[in-house]
Amino acid sequence: MKSPIPDYLADVLDAVRGIEDGAPADYIDVLARADVSRLAVALATVDGEVYAVGDHDVEFSIQSISKPFAYALAIEDNGLDRVLERVGVEPSGNAFNELSLEAGSHRPMNPMINAGAIATHALVATPGASREARITRFVDVMSRLAGRPLSVDEAVFDAELRDGNRNMGLGYMLKAGGMLDCDPGEAVSGYIRQCSVNVNVRDLALMAATLANAGQQPQTGEPIFPASSVRQVLSVMTSCGMYDAAGDWITTVGIPAKSGVAGGIIGALPGQLGLAVFSPRLDGHGNSVRGVAVCERLSRDMGLHMM
Ligand code: DON
Repeated sequence: MKSPIPDYLADVLDAVRGIEDGAPADYIDVLARADVSRLAVALATVDGEVYAVGDHDVEFSIQSISKPFAYALAIEDNGLDRVLERVGVEPSGNAFNELSLEAGSHRPMNPMINAGAIATHALVATPGASREARITRFVDVMSRLAGRPLSVDEAVFDAELRDGNRNMGLGYMLKAGGMLDCDPGEAVSGYIRQCSVNVNVRDLALMAATLANAGQQPQTGEPIFPASSVRQVLSVMTSCGMYDAAGDWITTVGIPAKSGVAGGIIGALPGQLGLAVFSPRLDGHGNSVRGVAVCERLSRDMGLHMM
């Protein structure tokens, strides 16, 4: 029997296709040249069913959607207490590229902003690991989450590193505050590689569904993260995943989420599903305009809001 879900998802995409607000990220030249007509959505259930429509095979860089997964790895590799010494869990209320340190401390406010993500990246793999070991560990786990081998988009990496003065500045401030053990340039270039991993919406939906499934990849059955780490990650996504729009998001869509500046967004509804959307035009917070509209519509129609 034909499933009605893909037809429904195609209708949702058609409903938002006319939205032309926003613009692709302009501070990374490869992203600034993105095809703004791209639009895709995927749903993955915790039983391993995946429904993907629109430009679902088109790859784009994961960008900040990498941050919750790097946070889960840092917790696994160092323990939560050690990670909390370096990165807090409070929403910053500021843009993602602000320094946003906690008052009276050198600790970045959360792992979803760039400063917190750079400190988090430096905690991936065993303490004292090389930049190569950290990125290899990250790409390996992301590939297991997607169920296929993923790789770094070298053009995006080069472009972001070339224009990476702001992130480099954050790295040096973290080092000065004692929040990095390694060289700041190494932490920032590793973080930028982490952001440059290519994915499509199907990959992202499976990653989100793994979080929704308490850390077990729904198609392969592999336990990838312990449930205690997933609880920590989903909690921080809920309060900080959509940056200074986190309040709007949680009142309207109502599920833990994370956006990236290439135009991707993931959402994870514990015990039920992971969803992923992609469209390159962003709003002033750095979240995909059509992506947010798709998620609002899915949440309303399917009753996804947690409350
Ligand atoms: O560090 C940066 O600026 C990018 N690599 C990632 C930022 C990002 O995706 C913010 N999300 N909306």
